[in-house]
Amino acid sequence: MIGPDLLDMADLDAEAITTILDTAEGFKDVALRPIKKVPTLRGRTVCNLFFEDSTRTRISFEIAEKRLSADVINFSAKGSSVAKGESFKDTALTLQAMGVDAIVIRHAASGAAQQLTRWVDARVLNAGDGTHQHPTQALLDLYTIRERFGRVEGLEVAVVGDVVHSRVARSVCQGLVTMGAHVTVVGPPTLLPPALETWGVRVSHDLDAVLPGLDVCYLLRVQRERMHAQFFPTSREYARIWGLDADRLAVLPEHAAILHPGPMNRGVEITADVADAPNALITEQVSNGIAVRMSVLYLLLGGEEGAEA
Ligand code: NCD
Repeated sequence: MIGPDLLDMADLDAEAITTILDTAEGFKDVALRPIKKVPTLRGRTVCNLFFEDSTRTRISFEIAEKRLSADVINFSAKGSSVAKGESFKDTALTLQAMGVDAIVIRHAASGAAQQLTRWVDARVLNAGDGTHQHPTQALLDLYTIRERFGRVEGLEVAVVGDVVHSRVARSVCQGLVTMGAHVTVVGPPTLLPPALETWGVRVSHDLDAVLPGLDVCYLLRVQRERMHAQFFPTSREYARIWGLDADRLAVLPEHAAILHPGPMNRGVEITADVADAPNALITEQVSNGIAVRMSVLYLLLGGEEGAEA
């Protein structure tokens, strides 16, 4: 089942994920039309409520909403009454009183999206809450992988790097496992969370040993802004042991795909030449993100039929 909100990849089973990806496929060609718009969410209002910096996710949601003909409101904490001390709850109640149909929320606190559902009737879409979840990122990653390989089931995937601070890692590992991929989480012990054995993944501290068997190498951004302690000696040291560079690329099978959620730290987790290599699907991830977000908005808001019901 999909909905009423999209908070956590744990809420989606394989059937729900497949429905979202299939629906996204239908929306993908809207981008190829001269007029990139369908009337699906005409008369619906969507608010993008961003308490934490974001470029690509916010723009991606906004493009998706506009391509579906929704009315879009952008609210960012900077320059709003949040800066004047208004609480999260009062902001939510204000949006509720204004009658928005859906809220896309990004917040630095894990659990913020869930909390919002208690205060508003609008559909809530989690666009990243703290280190917890970022479900649309995982869905666009699954879409990109399925598009490249024709399936997700049975693929060998490594998720590499700063897992402990990464809501993307939590979401994408969950989605991959649900879809039947074999996932290995790779990184230094300081950057891996303690409860990894509950994720249904393998764990490795040796990237070079894992690379030759991979179909997909998923690199995570080193999240300096969430690090309040020293997790590794220097960026150069990190790059040498955990970064994907030309030498490691040569060890990856030729058919293997490289993914990264962005924004990249070129020269840390990935070198510039690898980021631009033909098997890096990073720009595909960005364009697929729009179709996947259109799909989720459509499925949660029910299109025009939903509006009439
Ligand atoms: C991700 C995020 O914010 O969680 N980026 C994104 O959505 N564009 C990943 C990251 O910041 O590393």
